[in-house]
Amino acid sequence: MQTILRDFKEKKSTQKISIVTCYDYSFATILSESDIDCILVGDSLGMVIQGYNSTLPVTLDEMIYHTKAVKRGSGKKWVVCDLPFLSYQISIEQCIESCGRVLKETNCDAVKIEGADEILLEAIHRMQKIGIPVMGHLGLTPQSFQVLGGFRVQGKDESSAKQIYEDAKALEKAGVFSIVLEMLPESLGKKISESITANTIGIGAGKFTDGQVLVLQDLLGMNKNFNPKFLKKYADLSRIISESINQYNKEVKEELFPNSETTFL
Ligand code: KIV
Repeated sequence: MQTILRDFKEKKSTQKISIVTCYDYSFATILSESDIDCILVGDSLGMVIQGYNSTLPVTLDEMIYHTKAVKRGSGKKWVVCDLPFLSYQISIEQCIESCGRVLKETNCDAVKIEGADEILLEAIHRMQKIGIPVMGHLGLTPQSFQVLGGFRVQGKDESSAKQIYEDAKALEKAGVFSIVLEMLPESLGKKISESITANTIGIGAGKFTDGQVLVLQDLLGMNKNFNPKFLKKYADLSRIISESINQYNKEVKEELFPNSETTFL
């Protein structure tokens, strides 16, 4: 049986990996028929779905709820689930317990955690032995936006770039199979990608990472007001959705819908 670890490893030098986020069953069914490599149930759902201004309020139960819904529609796609704020940073035991719970209850393929402190490195090391595949996340780690000075590019000066590079090496040594690199100068994304055997997945980290990830609603253009430099919108769904809703409203008011075709006679 192919596993996410083997698949990602095989792609490291041969093919870029494409990942999008997904939080529900209906989008998951569409993604299951797409060419995308992997789905991330990101804790960005706190902002995209729940309307908070950060990911901090999201709970472990909510992540499990959304990941189960995605898994029901995702078919054979790899599914990675984000661990939310304070569900894994307190102790090695808490980290292993939360990650294990996610894997056990959702049947996802891997978990993702942000950062690389001593607790996480030891927990990742132990999880590798237990059998829990872990994806890391460095650079702009949104759960720490308060101490990182907001949602901004990281690793711009020499000392923070060195720290992120060393964290990537430490995460790899601990046993992650992949690391998300968020909002870094392209040169740092390149240096890390060339220095580790784990796959690097960039979001705003330039073109040299081993793959890319984007939030699905962002790439589909569902939020007119979200326009960061790294984002390319592949559709203008907010316009298509409003036009469709307005057309429906018009036809209801003008008594054009329902018509004989949409009525049980
Ligand atoms: O939560 C999320 O969606 C993420 C990606 C943007 C990498 O962590």
